[in-house]
Amino acid sequence: MRTDTAPTPPKTIYLKDYKPYPFTITALDLNFDIRDGHTIVTARADYVRNSGSKEVFLNGEDLELLSVKIDGAEVTDYNQTEVALRVPCPAADEFTLEIVTKIIPEKNTRLEGLYQSGGNYCTQCEAEGFRRITYFPDRPDVMTTYTVRVEADQAYPVLLSNGNKTDEGALDNGRHFTVWHDPHPKPCYLFALVAGDLFEVHDTFKTASGRDVDLYIYVRHGDENQCDHAMESLKKSMTWDEEVYGLEYDLDIFNIVAVSDFNMGAMENKSLNIFNTALVLAQQETATDHDFIRVESVIAHEYFHNWSGNRVTCRDWFQLSLKEGLTVFRDQEFSADMHSAAVQRIDDVAHLRRHQFPEDAGPMAHPIRPESYIEINNFYTMTVYEKGAEIIRMLRTILGDENYRKGTDLYFSRHDGDAATCEDFVKSLEDASGADLTQFRLWYSQAGTPEVVFKGVYDADKNTYSVTLSQSTPDTPHQSDKRPMVMPVIVGLIDESGADIAEETLMLSEASQEFVIENVDRTPTPSILRKFSAPVRLSHDLNDEQLAHLMVHDNDGFNRWEAGQTMMLRVLQGMIEGKAPSEAFLAQYGALIDIALDENADKALSARALTLPDIEAISQTQEIVDPDVIFKAREGLLAAIKRTHKAALSKLYKANAPSGEFSVSAEAMGRRALRNVVMGLLSATHGTGCAKLAKAHYDDADNMTDRVAALASLAVNKNPQGAEAFDDFYARFKDYPLVMDKYFALQASAAHPDIINKVKKLREHADFNVKNPNRARSLYGAFGMNNPVAFHAKDGSGYAFLRDGIIELNDINPQIAARLLTPLRAWKRYTPDRQDMMKAALRAILDTDNIAPNVFEIASKSLNS
Ligand code: ARG
Ligand code: ZN
Repeated sequence: MRTDTAPTPPKTIYLKDYKPYPFTITALDLNFDIRDGHTIVTARADYVRNSGSKEVFLNGEDLELLSVKIDGAEVTDYNQTEVALRVPCPAADEFTLEIVTKIIPEKNTRLEGLYQSGGNYCTQCEAEGFRRITYFPDRPDVMTTYTVRVEADQAYPVLLSNGNKTDEGALDNGRHFTVWHDPHPKPCYLFALVAGDLFEVHDTFKTASGRDVDLYIYVRHGDENQCDHAMESLKKSMTWDEEVYGLEYDLDIFNIVAVSDFNMGAMENKSLNIFNTALVLAQQETATDHDFIRVESVIAHEYFHNWSGNRVTCRDWFQLSLKEGLTVFRDQEFSADMHSAAVQRIDDVAHLRRHQFPEDAGPMAHPIRPESYIEINNFYTMTVYEKGAEIIRMLRTILGDENYRKGTDLYFSRHDGDAATCEDFVKSLEDASGADLTQFRLWYSQAGTPEVVFKGVYDADKNTYSVTLSQSTPDTPHQSDKRPMVMPVIVGLIDESGADIAEETLMLSEASQEFVIENVDRTPTPSILRKFSAPVRLSHDLNDEQLAHLMVHDNDGFNRWEAGQTMMLRVLQGMIEGKAPSEAFLAQYGALIDIALDENADKALSARALTLPDIEAISQTQEIVDPDVIFKAREGLLAAIKRTHKAALSKLYKANAPSGEFSVSAEAMGRRALRNVVMGLLSATHGTGCAKLAKAHYDDADNMTDRVAALASLAVNKNPQGAEAFDDFYARFKDYPLVMDKYFALQASAAHPDIINKVKKLREHADFNVKNPNRARSLYGAFGMNNPVAFHAKDGSGYAFLRDGIIELNDINPQIAARLLTPLRAWKRYTPDRQDMMKAALRAILDTDNIAPNVFEIASKSLNS
């Protein structure tokens, strides 16, 4: 039996060391005997030797080994360590290995492997959780077909696993069982099991080729009326993948189970997706529009994995972006088709800049296909996911829609059933399109965000517009002297009236390159990097008049927004240097309000256009970050906008009052988004009038979107209405855990003068539970990521608060602890006094007894950068 001894020093795994597993497993039979307090797992696997290997290597952690048998005969001369089991091979090339282990799901707080959530049993095996269930080659390139028998008490009426149910029945002593068979070979990270007392929501879907699929969503009793949106989203996703990628579902059943304790968002286990409740449940009263959109996109994401991830999986975890980058790109495009494409692009790019750019510029920078890791769970990153999606997007732009689709068709047919590599994907696109993607492959191996400089010159005599683009990529840990990347830069030229004179996709591939756009018969304003066609930092020398023109007239919605943001960042820079916002800018902001006042305007887009860059976005323009200074400048600009435009904003607020039945149509969400942004502006000076307005907004709300907007404003207002609203909120929603997460997060994110004492109180709140990842994130995550002023408080109290939370979580749930380190990684960007305190917090974390490899990797790489 395993005892807790001193941790073995964490080992680094390298891509270059990849070797195939020396056996094929032709079938796996699992039996789960779930008892109160422990579960007995019997794993019987048929092995075929592929090379002269003398022993079978199996991963296993925190397992009690009960027996090992080969072809029915007990084996005792195996070698067992903390993390592995080596079993000597028999003489025959084919044999059956049967292993019995005992596990304790009830004590599993890491939430990897088999664990309990809300009294039910569930699994999370990606990336390396299966080794906490039984000894097995826990690597994605070992694929086999699974037959799973689950036996438990009748108190758990729902017993699920992957594939089709082939048997079920009652047993003595109030027990029962089911048997599941999944005909599609899969790696063990896609294995799943659920045993629980759950409500079953049922629907059906007919695929394009006529297959009837039963769709089930399983939730806690009482949550069944919050599943409609998830079910609709699932059906939309199934249709979209048929129409856009020609990909159909391949089994007769598709299950989604919602659990309240989950380390990540959701998991694409074959035909048995397991979700964080936060990404399934959605109804008017308890979910914001943002939640509705997230549910839809994550349901789509996990469903799309059925092809990009399951039918074609990854050879090893270095290839993670093969499935994640591709699947994020697919879900982004799905969402763009369901709503407004420009708004989707704005939100995706804002997310990339806010979270991935700092990663790419910090101590954890890595290419989308990393070359080494200590703990793979630390590499489920913004880079692998979001930058990975940008790489696929560029491929589509470069190849064009038709060739891109030919390429994905070839990829899915050529590699169906394979554990593939990123190289396989690129090769498929090359073979199908005839394009040469040699240089493009650098995006897979080179880390860092390229910096692109644009210069444009108009020649009125020749009617040409010449563009010079130059690029360089900064050094990142263990990578310097980067080579030029190839990237599509979409440039539009617009005239006085806003009409396009030209739009061209310039293929930048050298360090510096000149392009000439012909037939430009009138003076143009350049609209650069339309649709954000490459994931780069762009600089240009457009003047304020040109930006002002673009922010109103550019017909690329993304760049219209972008021009406004650039202008705002310039004004904020001036304010940081002590200047007042210019009249010209304030007038231009008025023009944005006028656009929003037009009944036909895209309200969702207007809501974004009127929103100032957040503190993180402003920080990224600073050499040395002082959050207090940035915060003050931003507050000053908000106040100036309110002072200048109060009347127009009030008009806009009234014009967007709720009308008709509540709906989550794009129009209705846009209307709410716009009205809430305006409410935020009108209450931005935190006075009595502001408190009254926000409180009335709260009281009138018939939905969570409006309530949350009001509470965000009240949380930073010291008038009594704030406490009243939060008390009401608590009383109304205390039985809704997902809403209580908002209750914690809204307060932890508030730039309130007494915030540190508030978060300390929240830490002791009866509803706080550090073991629940959503709740831990709602306090520590929100505080560290969304409250820069308080987190970076000059007295170090914010760092100390997060440090203590991370140290506590190190033992409970290392994955979550490692994630919470994110805001400390960027210490180098801050003022020297803050740097010292952030480093001290990292050192204290590194001194933790029994430090988990997850936490060790991030803290040590951050400190030693
Ligand atoms: N494959 C899942 C998804 O993107 C993520 C699960 C990762 N979980 C983890 N603990 N690393 O949809
Ligand atoms: Zn995914």
